[in-house]
Amino acid sequence: MKEFLTLGIETSCDETSVAVVKDGREVLSNIIYSQIDIHKKFGGVVPEVASRKHVEIISLIMKEAIDKANVLLDDINLIAATYGPGLVGALLVGLSFAKGLSFSTKKPFIGVNHIEGHICANYIEHKDLEPPFLCLVVSGGHTHLVYVKGYDSYEILGKTRDDAAGEAFDKIARALDLGYPGGPLIDRLAKEGNESAIDFPRAYLEEDSFDFSFSGLKSAVLNYLNKMKMQGIEVKKEDVAASFQKSVVEVLSNKTIWAAKEINVNKIALAGGVAANSRLRKELEILSKKNGLKFYYPSNILCTDNAAMIASSGYFSYKSGRQSQLSLNAFPNLKI
Ligand code: KG4
Ligand code: ZN
Repeated sequence: MKEFLTLGIETSCDETSVAVVKDGREVLSNIIYSQIDIHKKFGGVVPEVASRKHVEIISLIMKEAIDKANVLLDDINLIAATYGPGLVGALLVGLSFAKGLSFSTKKPFIGVNHIEGHICANYIEHKDLEPPFLCLVVSGGHTHLVYVKGYDSYEILGKTRDDAAGEAFDKIARALDLGYPGGPLIDRLAKEGNESAIDFPRAYLEEDSFDFSFSGLKSAVLNYLNKMKMQGIEVKKEDVAASFQKSVVEVLSNKTIWAAKEINVNKIALAGGVAANSRLRKELEILSKKNGLKFYYPSNILCTDNAAMIASSGYFSYKSGRQSQLSLNAFPNLKI
């Protein structure tokens, strides 16, 4: 069978990324330009700055992706771009670029949901992975438990009611003066701490709910830090990081295992920026083994925002019979 090449484009937040993926699973190129150094000094992503940087660089990244894949633009069979959720100005850059490319080359175009893209990173990493499975998507903007019923069929079983898991990591890192983005810094620092040192709350919510909530935990950590400061006691940042992380990981992992049992699947997967967390991977590895489940997660480069996962998701949706019109708009609050 002739190979099918998808060009993926991702600009939903602060990464400008273009990739070429063969048959939905094999990465020929995945160029990622991270703006993190620009946003770092503001302590978070500045939307207007992100959009401008995407505009400045996207043509160069596209050329690099095509060259690195050693293909011609003419060889591409499908153009896929993220159309939500994300920052509207940032989304519009990649989406407009993709639509322009589709119009001028007369190649089919498909809009991709960023969250579905994160899930599909697992298809690239694990060539044998097929639906159905349960996926825990944890990133800076999302915390979703998704039942992946087919290659283009998803059902949300639970989601965060307030902060996303990554957002909680970033806020606690800021309170500890660690820097931005906080997830990797807390992950590293926690390795030197005692995770049983402080008993932070675990929010399991109602017994039958697969939703999450991290705002109570965030307040508990901030209150603890304030209390210690008022009493003139120096906190052990490693212990705070480890205890906070343990609380997040425990709830995420337990709810994932319970949900897998409830829907009766034997495979679970992780996705999104927080899927790079070493403690979360370890916990799910242990619990999966104990419960007879197969556990999948992408390598770190495929966990954070990248265009290869968007190309993969676009490919599988297209093969399932979906295609988008060039009138497709960006949807900052797009749901699965
Ligand atoms: O998926 P992503 O790159 O962007 C969004 O779509 O949001 O996720 C970024 C988030 C940030 O909040 C970052 O702190 C978090 O992922 N993150 C981590 C780790 N690496 C990145 N959180 C915990 N542990 C990590 N090792
Ligand atoms: Zn993301």
